[in-house]
Amino acid sequence: MLKPVKILTKMYDVPEGWTLRAYERAGGYQAARKALGMPQATVVDETKKANIRGRGGAGFPAGVKWGFMKPDPARPAYLTVNADEGEPGTFKDRTLMEKDPHRCVEGCIIASYAIGAHVCYIYVRDELHLSKERRLKPPFPAQRGLFGCPTTVNNLETIAAVPSVIEMGGEAFSKLSSLHHLNDGGCRLFGVSGHVKKPGIYEACVGLTLRELIYDLGGGMSNGELLGVIPGGSSCPVLVPSEIVSAPDEKSVLHPWHGKSVLDVPRGVDTFRNLGTMLGTCCAIVFSDKTCPVAVMQNLMSFYRHESCGQCTPCREGVGWIDRIVTKLLEGTASIQEVDQIHDIGNGIMGNTICAFGEGAAMPALGLVRKFRRHFEEHAAGTPCRAEGRLQA
Ligand SMILES: Cc1cc2nc3c(=O)[nH]c(=O)nc-3n(C[C@H](O)[C@H](O)[C@H](O)COP(=O)(O)O)c2cc1C
Ligand code: SF4
Repeated sequence: MLKPVKILTKMYDVPEGWTLRAYERAGGYQAARKALGMPQATVVDETKKANIRGRGGAGFPAGVKWGFMKPDPARPAYLTVNADEGEPGTFKDRTLMEKDPHRCVEGCIIASYAIGAHVCYIYVRDELHLSKERRLKPPFPAQRGLFGCPTTVNNLETIAAVPSVIEMGGEAFSKLSSLHHLNDGGCRLFGVSGHVKKPGIYEACVGLTLRELIYDLGGGMSNGELLGVIPGGSSCPVLVPSEIVSAPDEKSVLHPWHGKSVLDVPRGVDTFRNLGTMLGTCCAIVFSDKTCPVAVMQNLMSFYRHESCGQCTPCREGVGWIDRIVTKLLEGTASIQEVDQIHDIGNGIMGNTICAFGEGAAMPALGLVRKFRRHFEEHAAGTPCRAEGRLQA
């Protein structure tokens, strides 16, 4: 059920809400004062109880990650906050930095205290000029991270949730979520872009469904009927509205939604993993039946090809190869055998790269070619494409 909240976004509509004066007037920095009066271990415990699953994409519990940091008087420790958002479709952290930068700073203070960090860095991409104005990837980092010292890496939204955890108490924060029982707690920022009437960032309790995101918060489809949705940033395999949950086993995480549309499954880290996709950054890309899925794939693959650092062969060569095949399909010069090759190349990338980027490129390719096979075959057969639009992430 749609449960809108205004916790992370409570300053978004306040005039000059990004200033220190406005933030303090709204009770800002009280949570930091409270946290600094608590034992460090209690702050970590409250964060564990809050069940904040990392908002950067992997969904690892923030409190558990903080527990890995062990004090070492011989070396400084660091908190690094990832606000990069390089992935197409993901644009939530930017709103926090622009509209409520002090919540981010307060979260950094509390998190640094909890893990014993001496210095905190926020990594912001160079293009975000407004975010940089309002304040200024490392390796298993809890032992040897930044400058070879113990480091915790968190997403910016994960950190921005922490003042509310201290304010409300971890358990109360977690229970905002309809997936509290799956250790997936609190509220979070949901993004929606593409063919919806009201693209943007919306705050809601964890457990919001794709149907609620697209039709209630996003205002419904803007151009045609829903054809597919990439649920959490471009790396997540696509879902199509005709997919029905099959989970007859009562022990399955998805059993409560057995027989229902995937659009009605609450958005959580484990529910979406069990659907064969990912929650990722929770920022959905929606495309209508006026869009060609082959063009969607080409849009994504040209991005991944450009971004690959080239260090490992499966990613460097594989992503480029898929991009070339998809470009040929759009030009009408690829064969059906080359469509099949996309499966082989994608599977060859999976599990064979140094970092998760390669899989982040292969997973959407494999998902698109599997679920929209007919469209790929039509392009290979030279059938004129009926779609008029491209995916605008
Ligand atoms: C290719 C790639 C790109 C990533 N981009 C981001 C990003 O832009 N922002 C982010 O917070 N995490 C990103 N991550 C995940 C981070 O590596 C890291 O897991 C995350 O920041 C941890 O924070 P969390 O546990 O609070 O989610 C990326 C991971 C990969 C493999
Ligand atoms: S998988 Fe990572 S390390 Fe390997 S080439 Fe791609 S981006 Fe570089």
